[in-house]
Amino acid sequence: MKSTPMTAFDTAFAEDTYKGLTNFPKYLLSKYIYNEKGDKLFQKIMAMPEYYLTNCEKGIFEEHTAAIADSFNSPDGFDIIELGAGDGKKTKILLRHLAEKKYNFTYQPVDISQHVLNELEQSLATEIPEVNVKTQQGTYFKTLERLADYNTRKKIIMVLGSNIGNLLHKDAINFLKNIQNSMSTEDMLFMGFDQKKHPQKIIDAYNDPAGITEAFNKNLLERINTELDANFNLDSFLHWETYDPESGTAKSFLVSRDQQEVLIAKLGLRVKFEAWETIHTEISQKYDDAVVAWLASEAGLDIETSFSDRDNCYKNYVFRKRASANS
Ligand code: AVJ
Repeated sequence: MKSTPMTAFDTAFAEDTYKGLTNFPKYLLSKYIYNEKGDKLFQKIMAMPEYYLTNCEKGIFEEHTAAIADSFNSPDGFDIIELGAGDGKKTKILLRHLAEKKYNFTYQPVDISQHVLNELEQSLATEIPEVNVKTQQGTYFKTLERLADYNTRKKIIMVLGSNIGNLLHKDAINFLKNIQNSMSTEDMLFMGFDQKKHPQKIIDAYNDPAGITEAFNKNLLERINTELDANFNLDSFLHWETYDPESGTAKSFLVSRDQQEVLIAKLGLRVKFEAWETIHTEISQKYDDAVVAWLASEAGLDIETSFSDRDNCYKNYVFRKRASANS
């Protein structure tokens, strides 16, 4: 097998894998962790005691439900569009309250996985049947394009779980700009941002002793093995987490324990690793008010208010389109 670069790739996954593993330093994109197995591992991560993000955000929803509902309300009612809804566990706390108080609203969860949406729709039908649910399968990007034309009444765009943290600041600004473009001046963006905190607590959340996060991270190699016909030995890589308290960036790596060579048949590629060479796989950015204000301002958004847990471990911000920004 020769290592001549390919010019055409069958899939974006093939192309991105080729680019990442022929780059120096090597990297892989975290979005490819989420196949069926990756989704299951992420559910397990959210249930781990070390992964504080889920409980912090749940706490905010429980403690501030009435105030959050109040900030959403409008004379003609409103539509909640949740990007990356997942199992909707946190959102259901709010939906229950909105249903009880007979708010005039619809819930429109968007997810890349139809399977996830079906489960969410079913569980809502039994748990909170009063809620008017409209699921939409699709990517964030496609959905936002569609939303720009949807201006019948106030919409609340929700992005929970600090999902924005996987993006470098410049990509986060682009993502926020895309959202901003799809908003009218009465619309709101409700978004969760994990906050800077004791560095040890952050490291522990991404380095659990049971090895669930390790398996989640290594799912990238497993996908390359099965989908691109490769022979990565998962045991020859170490899961390693770092956190830089200055930048607020947590980074995940896979580190090669030995010098080795991996064959990726479908890419016609042999990848050489030196002993202790790294593959960077994910960032999980942590924020403070100043950084969130800067991101918002770059994207033409204003912070209207925010909701936080007692320890300021996590915050949900409410943004509006800046009044002067063109729609
Ligand atoms: C789903 C991107 C918010 O970065 O905290 C969990 C993914 N990675 N454990 C995060 C993740 C390792 C998670 N996000």
